[in-house]
Amino acid sequence: MFETPEVIKRGVGGSTDIVRKEMFMVHNTWKAAEESHEFILRPEGTAAIARSYLQHGLKQFPTPLKLWTAGAMFRAERPQQGRYRQFHQVDLEVYGLADAVVDAECIEVQWSILRELGLERIEIKLGSVGSTQDRFEYNHYLQDLFGAHQEKLSEDSRARLILNPMRILDSKSESDQSLIAELKPHMMLERLGPDSRWHFDQVCGYLDAWGVPYTLDPTIVRGLDYYTRTAWEIHHQGVGAKSALGGGGRYDGLVQELGGPPTPAIGWAFGIERILIALHDEGVLIPDVPKMLVYVGALEEKGIAYAASLARAARALGHAEFGYKSKKAGKHLEDALKKGAMFIALVGESELEQNTVTLKNLSNREEQILSREGFLEMLGKSI
Ligand code: HAM
Repeated sequence: MFETPEVIKRGVGGSTDIVRKEMFMVHNTWKAAEESHEFILRPEGTAAIARSYLQHGLKQFPTPLKLWTAGAMFRAERPQQGRYRQFHQVDLEVYGLADAVVDAECIEVQWSILRELGLERIEIKLGSVGSTQDRFEYNHYLQDLFGAHQEKLSEDSRARLILNPMRILDSKSESDQSLIAELKPHMMLERLGPDSRWHFDQVCGYLDAWGVPYTLDPTIVRGLDYYTRTAWEIHHQGVGAKSALGGGGRYDGLVQELGGPPTPAIGWAFGIERILIALHDEGVLIPDVPKMLVYVGALEEKGIAYAASLARAARALGHAEFGYKSKKAGKHLEDALKKGAMFIALVGESELEQNTVTLKNLSNREEQILSREGFLEMLGKSI
């Protein structure tokens, strides 16, 4: 959960809101050693994974290397619906391949997960932020264009003009947006170099062939500096202003930026809380925790070992609970009902002698004496 500030500053990028405004710093001093260390609560996973890729020699694994992680992330944002200071991401990364088919597959996998969860009102917004060279040229173009009207830009965007002019296009400020409407700048998608254009067209071609719907979004910038070429977000109308359930992109320069060899890579992340809002909005029910299948109890002390072995065997089929202490049938029944079990299985003297068990269905009250095999077969049929 902690990362060194250098990795985040170099990886995520000095021009981003994350680095400029949203880092939670942790200062740790070891008095004895008089050492002082600074950490950051990780705002995202990608830069740290790239650091780990280098630090732990993950390059030795066969290409492509596919990684995933999930956990808490922290950004000091202004909290509102769908935007929190601590949130959770599921993250996927693919290292080692620059082919457009990998980009399309990553997008398709992210899309399919949301579809399988039952979401329908989702939209992929797809764009390209170009190669490093394309970006360099495009940023010059934007600097010339906006530079002549600096006084009309917001304070944030005057800083962006120097740090990362593309982020001006993403600005929420009204004055910036009206200047953009007036100047009508070319979008990155219209100014891609021939290699990036060919790559992007291929990505679109695969998605078309696979029937994955998307909307071209020439304004896509993303809030992280490491992206190159393909970039996308998946939005949902029910989440509010911050409607992206997930986003991702290619980042072929990141490993090199952190001191490693040129390594193409691509990935995406989901925001779990936003997915939950979207599921709620669409009325998709999240299945309840499955009911307890069976509660097993012994009526006599000497039946404990046999009853425990039945409970253990039943656990292969579902959630089984054991009564641990010998008790009267009525007491076991009380416990089984409290725990919401579907069946109660009791072992008394005669069951122990004959290697059987009395199984009662707690919804229709049917009771049968079964062999161990019959007991497991009966439970197996009921799930
Ligand atoms: P991101 O777009 O910054 O990308 O975040 C991914 C998702 O995390 C967002 O779409 C959103 O659902 C969720 N999220 C972000 N900030 C918040 C917040 N403050 N509160 C709630 N949810 C939030 C990344 O983080 C990249 N690392 C994705 C990536 C992986 N790109 C390549 N590989």
